[in-house]
Amino acid sequence: MYRSHTCGQLRIGNAGEKVTLAGWVQRIRKMGGMSFIDLRDRYGITQLVVDDSVSHELNETVEKLGREYVVQVTGVVAERSSKNSKIATGDVEIKLDTLKVLNASVTPPFTIEDESDGGEELRAKYRYLDLRRGPLKKAMELRHRMGQETRKYLDSIGFMEIETPFLIKSTPEGARDFVVPSRMNPGEFYALPQSPQTFKQLLMVSGYDRYFQIVRCFRDEDLRADRQPEFTQIDCEMAFVEREDVLVTFEGMIKSLFRNVLGKEIEGSFPRMSYSDAMKFYGSDKPDIRFGMKIGELKSDGRNGSDNIDLTSGKDFVVFDSAEYVGAICVKGAAFYTRKQVDELTEWVKRPQIGAKGLVYIRVAEDGVKSSVDKFYSARELEAMANRVEATAGDLVLILAGDKKKTQEALGTLRIEMGNRLGLRQSDNYAPLWVYDFPLLEWDQETGRFYAMHHPFTAPKPEDMDKFYSNDREQIAQVAANAYDFVLNGTEIGGGSIRIHDSNIQKRMFEVLGFSAEEAEYKFGFIINAFKYGAPPHGGIAFGFDRFCALFGGQETIRDYIAFPKNNAGRDVMLDAPGMIDDSQMEELFLKSTLKK
Ligand code: AMO
Repeated sequence: MYRSHTCGQLRIGNAGEKVTLAGWVQRIRKMGGMSFIDLRDRYGITQLVVDDSVSHELNETVEKLGREYVVQVTGVVAERSSKNSKIATGDVEIKLDTLKVLNASVTPPFTIEDESDGGEELRAKYRYLDLRRGPLKKAMELRHRMGQETRKYLDSIGFMEIETPFLIKSTPEGARDFVVPSRMNPGEFYALPQSPQTFKQLLMVSGYDRYFQIVRCFRDEDLRADRQPEFTQIDCEMAFVEREDVLVTFEGMIKSLFRNVLGKEIEGSFPRMSYSDAMKFYGSDKPDIRFGMKIGELKSDGRNGSDNIDLTSGKDFVVFDSAEYVGAICVKGAAFYTRKQVDELTEWVKRPQIGAKGLVYIRVAEDGVKSSVDKFYSARELEAMANRVEATAGDLVLILAGDKKKTQEALGTLRIEMGNRLGLRQSDNYAPLWVYDFPLLEWDQETGRFYAMHHPFTAPKPEDMDKFYSNDREQIAQVAANAYDFVLNGTEIGGGSIRIHDSNIQKRMFEVLGFSAEEAEYKFGFIINAFKYGAPPHGGIAFGFDRFCALFGGQETIRDYIAFPKNNAGRDVMLDAPGMIDDSQMEELFLKSTLKK
């Protein structure tokens, strides 16, 4: 046996035992005729101690050791005189009898400790070394636990895990496909699944009425902290259900994850919010409801759930007069913001990602209001605006104006930024939320067609069926989807819907999306056909597993929760992939590059 214990196992109760450990040398220190070695494995770190005067031979081996050498040691567990409360084995050390080098290591390119001196790029290149570090190990453990608990829970309520293929045809999740050329079918390509959406629906037709899969998905889209080109979903589907059944079932799963992974009890049902309220009050379809700071409308058109109000027009302030919409947030207790700080915020909202043209403030004090626009508005008028966001003395009201949706979103982004600055978004505090009743379709001005907001298998709400069959674009744009998102702390973790299960409605959907009958048949004939053979009513949801893990770990970036992730350019810098392939391989696949060499 290589070892009797792991490096995380020994405690004071083991004192006096003779043990064998194996692991990596993290650190060697010499102090007053003694050598101290930190020995690390997956389970922890144990201190080894060698008395230089005892064994010449042992001493010589210790002299030769370097960082990350793999060694096997034997010795006796002893109580430490200076204990280390930071590690679980900190009360003991091993007085070494023997030390055998199992494998040497070249000097690693960065220190492999919780706080490393290596930059991100370097650590990505040597990911297998980075994975030895404590924080990454913790992330991997959390991911493992989440996966196990998910399987356990879903299995316990009758869900069956079924694998679906990776080499498939295009799936309509709205991103670009990654494609794979087929050698056996010259000139033809598979697409990798953006999700198993169509397969899980076919499984419902097959009668597997509770399906799930922890499954890799592939999407060629612009990457961000919470987006990877290949990522994992907890993908689920149920037959004979309505929205309520799906929400209740997965609330159960989410609560069990909180309980069994984080030891947190979430009491009561998760709050719910319509998409229109989310946009109106939070300027986002994934509101972080850990804090208030709701948006107040100062000028709006009364459409899509917003108020019909105008507190700003007719006072010769052109910016507000010409704006479709004016909205505000109240930053509690922030009246202390100096002119310079407000100027800095103004620059912040003007950044292209946010795209506001400027920022107006109202500072509320005991002795009245002060504002950047008090030339145009009386104190009473400014107070009326401040009242819309329930500002009181000591508060700072921030106002943006412009196109409605863009300005709502800009206010939403500003709200999150102010939440961050005021420390209102603590990561160990969790606020789950369901957002529902999304629009079914989005009109794209550029291409002059509708796109499915979720995906084209999402059912319209029954009460909107007339609008769905109307020829009027305005009417069609008003159709609500029977879709829902699960949002946690301002991140969209999951999305799903009740599906269309009638082949005629599905055909109509493809028609509304601008597919010709032939195109629809070529791309989705298999599913339209399947629906003719007794498709049960069904619905489901998929959770972004990497995002779920990252949030449970208190992080926004998913990369550390994936063992071998890609960078923001979609590259695996460890493998140096993607890469070129041989001319012969290109030929075999009937491919020719148009890139100039
Ligand atoms: P959707 O496209 O909303 O729905 O995806 C579900 C969840 O997957 C996560 N996610 C991602 N995570 C990391 N990197 C990405 N590039 C990425 N893209 C999406 C998000 C998202 O909420 N088939 C439908 C589900 C259904 O209708 O049942 C689907 O895939 O957390």
